[in-house]
Amino acid sequence: MSTSDKARFISFEGIDGSGKSTQAKLFLDRLIQEDREGILVREPGGTPISEAIRHVLLTKGNRQMVARTEALLMTASRSQLTKEVILPNLGQNRWVIADRYADSTLAYQGGGRELNLDWLQDLNKFATYDLEPNVTFVIDILPKEALRRREQTEDRIEEEGIAFQKRVRRTYLDLAQQYSDRIIVIDGHKSREIIQNNIWDEIKRRYFLTQ
Ligand code: ADP
Ligand code: TYD
Repeated sequence: MSTSDKARFISFEGIDGSGKSTQAKLFLDRLIQEDREGILVREPGGTPISEAIRHVLLTKGNRQMVARTEALLMTASRSQLTKEVILPNLGQNRWVIADRYADSTLAYQGGGRELNLDWLQDLNKFATYDLEPNVTFVIDILPKEALRRREQTEDRIEEEGIAFQKRVRRTYLDLAQQYSDRIIVIDGHKSREIIQNNIWDEIKRRYFLTQ
């Protein structure tokens, strides 16, 4: 099999309202147009068990939830999704596009909630069966612009406010420096089409895709 035929695991990351779900969907559409098989998953969620965990995590009424519980539930959702959906699909040579993956736990529970990053790295390693995305796109946007784009309905984590989102963004940018082979920062202030083309160009460059 040539390099271009091999399926890949691509994750999309960013603060709430950065436009990453839009880009994850556009990326999958593009893959399908190019006759490649792929699936889209989102976190927390993506399996019946993980969606039940998502409900507990995002319900506004659960304000008593402490940061460590939040980290454990995020990674519990991830282990189920990884084993039940991501690994089997990669095994079938399908591209897997993830709207958030392990870096979200580092950015939100590490940066946002200020939990120890080494603990979170260990939790992620356990939850992902050591799987890492081949490429991660961080859609980078100023928190005040993201807030403007977001709709009124906020979940428990989105309620945290600008200072929290600034810490999350800072952590994503630090991770991008630390893992520069894997993580690519994309300017999220541009139009949807420009961002999509920038992402596709990067994938073509890395994987020698012809189209
Ligand atoms: P996220 O998944 O990061 O929370 P979404 O993809 O849901 O973000 O986008 C948040 C909002 O911003 C949506 O209303 C979406 O249509 C809009 N949006 C997405 N990308 C752009 C862009 N490049 N420019 C302006 N608005 C955008
Ligand atoms: P969601 O509605 O999917 O938001 P978005 O469209 O911005 O992705 O809600 C997911 C929320 O969960 C979001 O605020 C980020 C947060 N989250 C974490 O705090 N840690 C994690 O590990 C993951 C996967 C998500």
